[in-house]
Amino acid sequence: PTRSIVDKLQRPLRDLRISVTDQCNFRCRYCMPEEIFGSDYKFLPKEKLLTFEELTRLTRIFVSLGVEKVRITGGEPLMRRDLPTFIHMISKVGRVKDIAMTTNGSLLAKHAKALKEAGLHRVTVSLDSLDDDRFGQMNGRGFKVSHVLEGIEAAAAAGLQIKVNMVVQKGTNDQDVLPMARYFREKGHILRFIEYMDVGNSNGWRLDQVLPSRDIVERIHREMPLEPVGPNHYGEVASRYRYLEGKGEIGLISSVTQAFCSTCTRVRLSAEGKMYSCLFASAGTDLRAPLREGKSDPEIRELITEFWRHRTDRYSEERLSNTPEITKKKKVEMSHIGG
Ligand code: GTP
Ligand code: 5AD
Ligand code: SF4
Ligand code: SF4
Repeated sequence: PTRSIVDKLQRPLRDLRISVTDQCNFRCRYCMPEEIFGSDYKFLPKEKLLTFEELTRLTRIFVSLGVEKVRITGGEPLMRRDLPTFIHMISKVGRVKDIAMTTNGSLLAKHAKALKEAGLHRVTVSLDSLDDDRFGQMNGRGFKVSHVLEGIEAAAAAGLQIKVNMVVQKGTNDQDVLPMARYFREKGHILRFIEYMDVGNSNGWRLDQVLPSRDIVERIHREMPLEPVGPNHYGEVASRYRYLEGKGEIGLISSVTQAFCSTCTRVRLSAEGKMYSCLFASAGTDLRAPLREGKSDPEIRELITEFWRHRTDRYSEERLSNTPEITKKKKVEMSHIGG
């Protein structure tokens, strides 16, 4: 096995998260509010996007430095043309143990089978409510719950492993915690609750809109008793709980109240080829120019190695101190690097 390179805090490089497009057909208020991402918003032109060949070449280099998991994100990754072709290319890079995709599910019914055949292992579908009014409000485009549920069913039928992610915003969709838990327990899919985060600069985040994971566990436990279970692997983002009676488990992603930076093994790549060492980074390191200027694999490998060796990011842990400098910092938008 490859020995991973480690950063300044001794964290190995294990996961590569690739954003394949900055576009999305949703306008979730906590991610791409319509006022900012409106009809005159300039998305990346095609020539600025890394091609599938460029992305595959970078993936091969990242794998040689320790990456074992690749996650495809966006924006909405299924807005990128011919995505299965890219999945297939990635699946041919040796030593990638896990290929997953994060999606809003709206286009999944159409593409699930092709994605599975191309070599995708898992999908994580975002869904914040089972109520059409609230969901339509939250996704900013009036998309219906049934479309996403059909996407999930199609993915399951195609043989993809499934998780569902719900961002919980107090006062907006916290009444959906229990209905979502019941529904996905019944369906046999793992539901993960994500604490609303201050990603990007657009969502007007406030701490009082965060429902702490502890409260979520309590609410569910009162109706359906739970017990904690250990992580599946080093650095797992979600804390797991299983239902005491019968089958099923949930996850809690508590980036605000229980930061998990100390085991953060993730590097992110934006659709235009900038590499980010943190979800909350202010700036990325460009890889597109070196690629297009004809740098060799060893040269690019060296760039990435140096970048990771100098990494000190631990934003979520620092945020706990909640100083103005931390919370006012300019950050990359979530739609740019896909969460
Ligand atoms: P598995 O591979 O299934 O364990 O998924 P994952 O833990 O990588 O989860 P996923 O990619 O679905 O991430 C879920 C959510 O957790 C993301 O959308 C983010 O909101 C949050 N998240 C993931 N990675 C990080 C991280 O490095 N830092 C912070 N603060 N949040 C993260
Ligand atoms: N806080 C928490 N999660 C977020 N996501 C997007 N914006 C935020 C935010 N501000 C989630 C999406 C999706 C994943 C890509 O990130 O709902 O599940
Ligand atoms: Fe699109 Fe996902 Fe952002 Fe919602 S959270 S706007 S679905 S990229
Ligand atoms: Fe990693 Fe940054 Fe998230 Fe901490 S805040 S877990 S360093 S991406």
